[in-house]
Amino acid sequence: MMKKRILTGDRPTGPLHLGHLVGSLKNRVRLQDDYECFFIIADYQILTDHIKETEQTENNITEILLDWLSVGMDPEKSTFFIQSRIPEIAELAMYFSMMVTLPRLQRNPTVKDEIKQSGMRHISYGFLGYPVSQAADILIVRAHLVPVGDDQLPHIEQTREIARTFNGLFKEVLPVPEALVGEVPRLPGLDGQKMGKSLGNAIYLKDAAPEIRRKIDSAITDPARIRANDVGHPEVCNIYQYQLAFNPEKTPEIEAACRKGEIGCVACKRMASEAVIAYLQPIQERRAYYQDKTSFLKDIVREGNDRTRVEAKTTMSIVRQAMHFDYKGLLCA
Ligand code: TRP
Repeated sequence: MMKKRILTGDRPTGPLHLGHLVGSLKNRVRLQDDYECFFIIADYQILTDHIKETEQTENNITEILLDWLSVGMDPEKSTFFIQSRIPEIAELAMYFSMMVTLPRLQRNPTVKDEIKQSGMRHISYGFLGYPVSQAADILIVRAHLVPVGDDQLPHIEQTREIARTFNGLFKEVLPVPEALVGEVPRLPGLDGQKMGKSLGNAIYLKDAAPEIRRKIDSAITDPARIRANDVGHPEVCNIYQYQLAFNPEKTPEIEAACRKGEIGCVACKRMASEAVIAYLQPIQERRAYYQDKTSFLKDIVREGNDRTRVEAKTTMSIVRQAMHFDYKGLLCA
């Protein structure tokens, strides 16, 4: 039986954090055996909001690659590729851009949040349209499933609409892909907001132990707990989410003690830090191993790009044919 195909990936804004790990990386590692996986490093998306920092992009791509390898994403099983090295994606995005209205793009809640958070005042055509380019990332390999964090759901919905529109206008050739959300869809940052690089509230996969302790010590907890023996409310505490994700065996005990005011936030944080550190240790060992294997990293990217281009060319020939853009008359002479 043919394996179903997955596409997902990351923007190379820098190293990945615990939010990525629980929201999507863990899922990817599991899915690699049962699906044919394509993992994209979405460097075009850097241009949407970091266009002045492009000199860092190549280094950031390397960081992502190392993070991927370190968590167990495996280039022997899956295909890793770089968005801008697949020119067919740009062509497909161009066609798709004609199938989406401006108000539809302006309604996307993730895009709206990003505009608000960044305080962006002049919004580029490419920024507003990046979900269209993301639809091209997904459909260029004709993926069936897209494992993502829940902030990406509006983009997957947009992709589904584009696929249906295309199929309705021309011919039923594109799959209508589905999103797959991770087991802990959203890990809060140290300040209780969504974990993200720009908010300065993230713990990175490559953070050393003292850094992790320092960060968790500085995190906010249940605001109702002033003294260590005040009763706690784990449901509003972000550290409780870390316990669930990284210290699942001890979590019921910690939760019960917190509710009775028998464990203070300082002690709870210590346990959370040590659990995170232990969890990351094998990941960081693998990262260190791959760090200086430059020619190995190059091979992974080259082979991944080549494999993806084969699929991309097939997709474009199907797409052009459906659109009557595979001119067979005069223009082929
Ligand atoms: N927008 C995604 C993020 O910020 C990255 C991404 C680009 C992506 N293209 C994709 C995710 C296609 C899934 C599918 O995390």
